[in-house]
Amino acid sequence: MGNTLRVISVVGARPNFMKIAPLARAINAHNAGGGTPRIEHRLVHTGQHYDVEMSAAFFDALDIPAPDVDLGIGSGTHAQQVGQTMIAFEQVLRDWPPDWVLVVGDVNATCACTITAKKEHLKVAHIEAGLRSFDQDMPEEINRLVTDRLADVLFTTDHIADANLRAEGTADERIRFVGNIMIDTLDAQRELAAPLKVADIIRDNAIADGEEDAARFAGTADGDFAVLTLHRPSNVDDPHILPDLVAYFIDEVAARMPLVWTLHPRTRNRLEASGLLDRVLATPNIVLLRPIGYREMLRLNMSARIILTDSGGIQEECCVLGTPCVTLRWNTERPITLTDHGGTNVLAGNDVARIRDAVNLLMEKKRVPHRPELWDGHTAERIVRYLAGTRAG
Ligand code: UD1
Repeated sequence: MGNTLRVISVVGARPNFMKIAPLARAINAHNAGGGTPRIEHRLVHTGQHYDVEMSAAFFDALDIPAPDVDLGIGSGTHAQQVGQTMIAFEQVLRDWPPDWVLVVGDVNATCACTITAKKEHLKVAHIEAGLRSFDQDMPEEINRLVTDRLADVLFTTDHIADANLRAEGTADERIRFVGNIMIDTLDAQRELAAPLKVADIIRDNAIADGEEDAARFAGTADGDFAVLTLHRPSNVDDPHILPDLVAYFIDEVAARMPLVWTLHPRTRNRLEASGLLDRVLATPNIVLLRPIGYREMLRLNMSARIILTDSGGIQEECCVLGTPCVTLRWNTERPITLTDHGGTNVLAGNDVARIRDAVNLLMEKKRVPHRPELWDGHTAERIVRYLAGTRAG
């Protein structure tokens, strides 16, 4: 291997792509600047998310190099996704054993590839370590716990995550506070997002008649609409919860202001299966969009009056952009984004009365952007500097 450092990084699902883009760029910059050791980087896509709009579109828009290996895992139960990823990834590691395997976030690929790499006696670094919802009903929490127990280096986004890791008995030398790599992408993309027009985003992505929807939204001023994203199994898979939420969105949110709802495939399937999709499509003040690109979502976030979401990453983006954010979950692994810590985020669970109170509260609030420590756009550089330092001299 000489004086090169071999790195394999892993992506699997949509929320991973914005975390890998800055890393690939920082590795290129390191090599282009004559940094030593030279880093040889290979990108592995497990293929958990495979629709163009959930995957390939992000590679193009965020300028991520094409994956060197695509494991093509696709949909399945958790055991199928994790098991098939492990089998396929083991071969990748045997063909080209790296000095480091880099995993990001909390999806099934993160956990599956960590276990595989450790069983091959390889070093693993986890980007976005230490986040805890303390709710093991969330598949992501299990992925986080397993990954952080095994990974050699734990790159954290904030000091709450550091404290979570310490409380689990993690030695200090494994913990590296580097900031939030998601914000590297947000900073790199916001000027490109700013000129996009909300009506164009709607026209190009509407599930129904884009022209009609765009025309209806053409007069909507900045700050005059709400955005909704929903995909957690706990919200969309439970037949006792989804109908109440949908009734609230139709009868109350859309009655108050236009609502742009970007539909995750899981949610679309559930709405279709329960016969609710047509009701939502027939609500004039709601526009349903297919999964949209990173930049388009950023643009909506930049001028939404309020966002209702159960996503992890959107809570963080709202914090930095200052968008009032109602999180439709009972807990968050990202408490740094909550109003108690200076962010814009209020937890409301999936109980309509709680959500109504949170929406009423946040509708009174102004945009107050807030950047936690080291959410400064330079996290990927810190990570690359650390990795290069592991082969110094
Ligand atoms: C996954 C992640 C979650 C992340 C989310 C973001 C895990 C455990 N969960 O959840 O952490 O917040 O992605 O999107 O890894 N589907 C498609 N096309 C696709 C991808 C999925 O139609 O490109 C369908 C699948 O067939 C499945 C459903 O969407 O029925 C859910 O996909 P799945 O990969 O199980 O997990 P997500 O809910 O997307």
